[in-house]
Amino acid sequence: MSYRVSLIESDVAFDVEPHETVLAAALRAAVNLPHDCKSGTCGTCRFKLIDGAVDYAEPPMGLEPEEAAAGIALACQARPLSDIVAEAEVMPSLLPDPIRCQSRIVSLEKLAADVVHLKLALVEGIDLAYLPGQHINIVLEDGSTRSFSLASRPSGDGTIDLHVRQIPGGVFTEGRLATLAAGDALDVELPLGSFFLRDDFRPLVMVATGTGLAPIKSIIEALMDDPAPPPVALYWGMRTEADLYLHDEILSWAEKLEDFRYVPVLSRPGEGWTGRRGYVQDAVVEDIDDIEEHAIYLCGSPGMISSAKSLFLGRGASVNHIYTDSFLFQH
Ligand code: FES
Repeated sequence: MSYRVSLIESDVAFDVEPHETVLAAALRAAVNLPHDCKSGTCGTCRFKLIDGAVDYAEPPMGLEPEEAAAGIALACQARPLSDIVAEAEVMPSLLPDPIRCQSRIVSLEKLAADVVHLKLALVEGIDLAYLPGQHINIVLEDGSTRSFSLASRPSGDGTIDLHVRQIPGGVFTEGRLATLAAGDALDVELPLGSFFLRDDFRPLVMVATGTGLAPIKSIIEALMDDPAPPPVALYWGMRTEADLYLHDEILSWAEKLEDFRYVPVLSRPGEGWTGRRGYVQDAVVEDIDDIEEHAIYLCGSPGMISSAKSLFLGRGASVNHIYTDSFLFQH
């Protein structure tokens, strides 16, 4: 027996067949719900249950207990137990369609001990369109893919920038990358993902760990072209001073955005560090009393995203205004 999912506000409805997930049924019906990992870990496919019930084969990792208690469900894992009325974001149809094409390496530059700036040029004739915050896949010889966020706003010249963290034992980030040079070819798929700026009309809190800075940089650079950008507070969590690979550039953003605040937070700083210490999400709640008024963008390690969501929701943040991009470990 199939169940009907009705989305309030958008007047969209579709049927979910037995054993089908809400997301699978939505995509089959050409309803573009936000999604990314499809494995219950990233939390991108969250929707709010207004009426009805769902079940999971296993409790999904990407759903915090506070979110479940607030009626949030994950579309990629949820199976309806009844007809459902839900509140869900339907992605704009103008979202660029992903393509697969060849690129050439323009440059490789070390930004930090374990971070490389990889600049790629897509083959000529590709009309590159993406939303700041989205990511690409690099396609390896065996057909497997590795995901990297686009680290700058669309350039208009067919080039893209990536921040590649070198993971010990990483097939691409350590093994293949060391063999590559300017001019070499890489197959890529792009643009991908649902992490991009929404029209919330709220001040922004952007929280990153590691190279989770990359998509946030892309979004903030795009805001520099906005005649009336919202206030932006950027919190960047790293271990040591040496890890803050774009520190000076980020400081300069305050000259380009009217209301921009940058707070680097180090978990293992040297003795000379006079800035913030500890976990980045703790610094956010220490500083911001009215977190419920903000749109929150989280990008980086699954651990940071999970604890930040729990912490912020416990302080009254709106589940409808938290957007996440979880960097899942890829060997
Ligand atoms: Fe559902 Fe990632 S797409 S949790």
